[in-house]
Amino acid sequence: MVFQPQLRILISRGEIAKAVDRLASQINRDYQGKQPLLIGVLKGSFVFMADLIRQLDLPLELDFIRLSSYGAARESSGSVRVVQGVKTPIKGRDVLVVEDIVDTGITTFFLLDYLRKRKPASLKLCTLTDKPSRRRVPVSIDYLGFTVPDEFIVGYGIDCDEQFRYLPDIYSLED
Ligand code: IMP
Ligand code: MG
Repeated sequence: MVFQPQLRILISRGEIAKAVDRLASQINRDYQGKQPLLIGVLKGSFVFMADLIRQLDLPLELDFIRLSSYGAARESSGSVRVVQGVKTPIKGRDVLVVEDIVDTGITTFFLLDYLRKRKPASLKLCTLTDKPSRRRVPVSIDYLGFTVPDEFIVGYGIDCDEQFRYLPDIYSLED
């Protein structure tokens, strides 16, 4: 990686791999005998989702949804829109949402409400990271990788203005 003075490592790829294993064991156990539909929130969750599903021993299906709330800024605008919806029917499915970060909670709160209206058999949330200090609306997390401090993070699929998604570790971005 090109030297980036503004990046400080927060979570190494080894720690991420261990967390993915742990979450996958929990999900494998909880969804025994089921065919869950995993819904990844684009784009931030795609690397996590790719690693997670390869540790799952379930006849799962997956789909993606794309939401917009941030634009190019670092702060949630507070209004969320579905930019690209889910094609797979949700009614009666065991839906597991896969997120990169729950920050203010506004995006995830909106998404869970949007999906719940489509009458899934069950609806749970798996997120790689959680920044509870920034929460503005309540979100209950069923599977959590890491609690992170109130810092802007990048890497492992997570971006800042579309940069740094390709980094294999998670970094804190200093300005
Ligand atoms: P929320 O609506 O404030 O919870 O924000 C959720 C979304 O904001 C996440 O899915 C990310 O796309 C983005 N986000 C929040 N915090 C960070 C961060 O530290 N780094 C990169 N993206 C972030
Ligand atoms: Mg996101």
